[in-house]
Amino acid sequence: MDAKSQLLLRNPSHFAGTVLLAGLPADDLLKALPQAFGWSWQMDAYTPLTRSTDGRCHFGIEPPSTEFAAAVLFLPKSREQTDYLLTQLAARLAGRPLYLVGEKRAGIERAAKQLQAFGSPHKIDSARHCQLWRVLVEQSPPAPVLGEWTKHYRVPLADGELRVISLPGVFAHGHLDAGTALLLEQLNALPRGPILDFGCGAGVLGAALARRYPDQSVTLLDSCAFALHSAHLTLAANSVEAKVQAACGIADAKQDFAAIISNPPFHQGIATCYQTTEDLLREARSHLVRGGELRIVANRFLKYPPILSQYLGSCETMAERGGFHVLRAVNQRAK
Ligand SMILES: C[S@@+](CC[C@H](N)C(=O)[O-])C[C@H]1O[C@@H](n2cnc3c(N)ncnc32)[C@H](O)[C@@H]1O
Repeated sequence: MDAKSQLLLRNPSHFAGTVLLAGLPADDLLKALPQAFGWSWQMDAYTPLTRSTDGRCHFGIEPPSTEFAAAVLFLPKSREQTDYLLTQLAARLAGRPLYLVGEKRAGIERAAKQLQAFGSPHKIDSARHCQLWRVLVEQSPPAPVLGEWTKHYRVPLADGELRVISLPGVFAHGHLDAGTALLLEQLNALPRGPILDFGCGAGVLGAALARRYPDQSVTLLDSCAFALHSAHLTLAANSVEAKVQAACGIADAKQDFAAIISNPPFHQGIATCYQTTEDLLREARSHLVRGGELRIVANRFLKYPPILSQYLGSCETMAERGGFHVLRAVNQRAK
């Protein structure tokens, strides 16, 4: 059981009723609190939770419409996303308690100050490097209007300016990442056929691809509901159409792509996590047609070229800049 979940279970009197657990880990906490229900915006937590708890977990960027007597926010990484989520919850909790739980190294003490907007927060427990805070919501804010939480930027491309819209917590919120910028310059001459933008974030690569290859089907895939919603906004802002898929890893993707394009993830929460990307590199072959291409941008210190050579049978560096390189691997193996 996650240390934050254990901290909640040490204080059972607070969480016996209809508590909404927002951003909860994929452990047995929901099972231990039979009246509680979950809200997740990450498919990798949501998928196992929904299987093990009879649908007591909701996926999306807004809380479920069901009434709840209290809510707990498991502290996310982004301060702006914490602000958005606390506002969503406090808007539904006038006169009722809102809790915040998180690790010290993730900044729970600083984040607890964000509770001051709603009342007088106090710490109710701490253990195993985690803290649990509570505020009785005396000043309930209006429900957040999504458009007021988005950031917009424009990317000049050869075929015109691309508009990008992102929500709090999405990778490179409000600006173009340097690695993504390098990969955007290397989207020429892709093989004909369906294209996948794996880990699409706000949809900058996927929208650029959909505009540049209008006769090819483009799929934007991500595990985070905030990214998926941003990707929809970005596609609409550029008047381009593409599929947007909520999925957890390459295993959930279709198998007939002519190209997979990605600025793949390497951080999860505050920990560095390469598993999703290693799975992508190892499994891309099963999701590409023969002769199909994987093109990724990565930090040069990450040892991806030997993995690509091993699993796809080739690996070439297309471009390098500022510590990043774009790697291209053509699937030379029969399935
Ligand atoms: C480095 S960001 C790149 C975002 C976007 N393509 C860009 O270049 O701005 C990686 C993305 O992968 C997503 N991601 C992380 N784990 C994932 C998983 N298991 N399955 C699908 N997407 C995942 C993250 O939510 C994030 O949006």
